Amino acid sequence: MGRLIAIGNDHAAVELKKAVCAHLDEIGVEYKDFGCGTGEKCDYPDKAKEVCKAVTDGSADMAILICGTGVGMSISANKIKGIRAACCSDVFSAKYTRLHNDANVLCFGERVVGAGLAIELVEAFLSAEFEGGRHAVRVEKIMALEDNTD
Ligand code: RB5
Repeated sequence: MGRLIAIGNDHAAVELKKAVCAHLDEIGVEYKDFGCGTGEKCDYPDKAKEVCKAVTDGSADMAILICGTGVGMSISANKIKGIRAACCSDVFSAKYTRLHNDANVLCFGERVVGAGLAIELVEAFLSAEFEGGRHAVRVEKIMALEDNTD
């Protein structure tokens, strides 16, 4: 896969983040873990901001954000210019948000998905490539919404 993945979580998702990192180690995907770790408290908007900056400044190619539900992280991430975050709890969506939406951040929740499914979500997301074509036009329209230019 050959990319750098930024990964971060809040206090509700420390264990699932560890499981995902262990899997990335196993399959040889490079990542940077932005925390938080065991015993730390962390507000998900702060972590989303920190991790997404790595994507928007180009130091990471994509990101994974995990909180209790995945929803707080995805809402926060999608406020950041240049971020297209998808909160997924099924493999089909995790794949197609790459193929069709060119999502650059995958979010999910420790209170929603188990480690086995989380790993499948990550594999689906990282393996799929944006298809471009007619989807590129739609992604451009998303970015225009962000800029309020249409
Ligand atoms: C933290 O308790 C929880 O609210 C957070 O992890 C997340 O689920 C928010 O969307």
